[in-house]
Amino acid sequence: MMKTVPLPVAPRNASPVSHLTSIHAVAPRGHYGNARYPGNCGGYLIRDLLQYFKPKRVFDPMSGSGTCRDVCQELGIEVVSADLHSGFDCSHPKNCDMVGEFDFVWIHPPYWRMKVYSNDPRDLSAARDLPEFLRKLSRVIVNCKHVLAPGGHLAILMGDYHDREIGFVPLTYHTKRLCFNAGLIQDCTDIVRFQHGNSSSSKTYKSTFIPGLHDICLIVKQQK
Ligand SMILES: C[S@@+](CC[C@H](N)C(=O)[O-])C[C@H]1O[C@@H](n2cnc3c(N)ncnc32)[C@H](O)[C@@H]1O
Repeated sequence: MMKTVPLPVAPRNASPVSHLTSIHAVAPRGHYGNARYPGNCGGYLIRDLLQYFKPKRVFDPMSGSGTCRDVCQELGIEVVSADLHSGFDCSHPKNCDMVGEFDFVWIHPPYWRMKVYSNDPRDLSAARDLPEFLRKLSRVIVNCKHVLAPGGHLAILMGDYHDREIGFVPLTYHTKRLCFNAGLIQDCTDIVRFQHGNSSSSKTYKSTFIPGLHDICLIVKQQK
């Protein structure tokens, strides 16, 4: 019988958020955003990142139910929050040209068509195939890079996905590749976020697979 073990102990250091490590395993989602919004994420990881990086101005261009906006408001940080559902297409460079400069950008894009948000052709989740999704995601990343101040950070929450048609899709790998192609650099660990309360957790499948129980928060930086 295998024994489950507690998480490894982190080394002490001068971090202002001592519990923030490469594993984010917080069960409640907090009172941020709307738990019923499809694919919503909890607010605690965002709060930890904001308290660690201490940005003055945050951009949240795929806001969904407003989880990041709510965290920023609680912490008293200026935030510009928008989403395609309110008419803002962050894959279009002109829209991002008008929002000014930020020292932190948070994006939680659709994991391609795992959840389809709309049939708007600008919606990343409406991309008909993987190359189209990646082209759109690449445009979003490049637009975010353009609004980042020197030394500013872009945090992207992304999960891998299994597609009925094309099988396993390593979206976290592709996302990192697109960030590096855009000239962003990585100077801290990826964060593995445990996905508590996934809708798939209560389902039974006939097929055989290794269930993925996490997504990845990749943090990249604009060079100074
Ligand atoms: C995973 S959800 C974000 C959920 C959010 N983190 C929350 O907690 O509610 C992804 C969001 O991306 C938005 N989206 C998709 N394509 C977009 C685009 N081109 N521009 C802006 N938002 C887009 C969708 O409308 C959806 O709300």
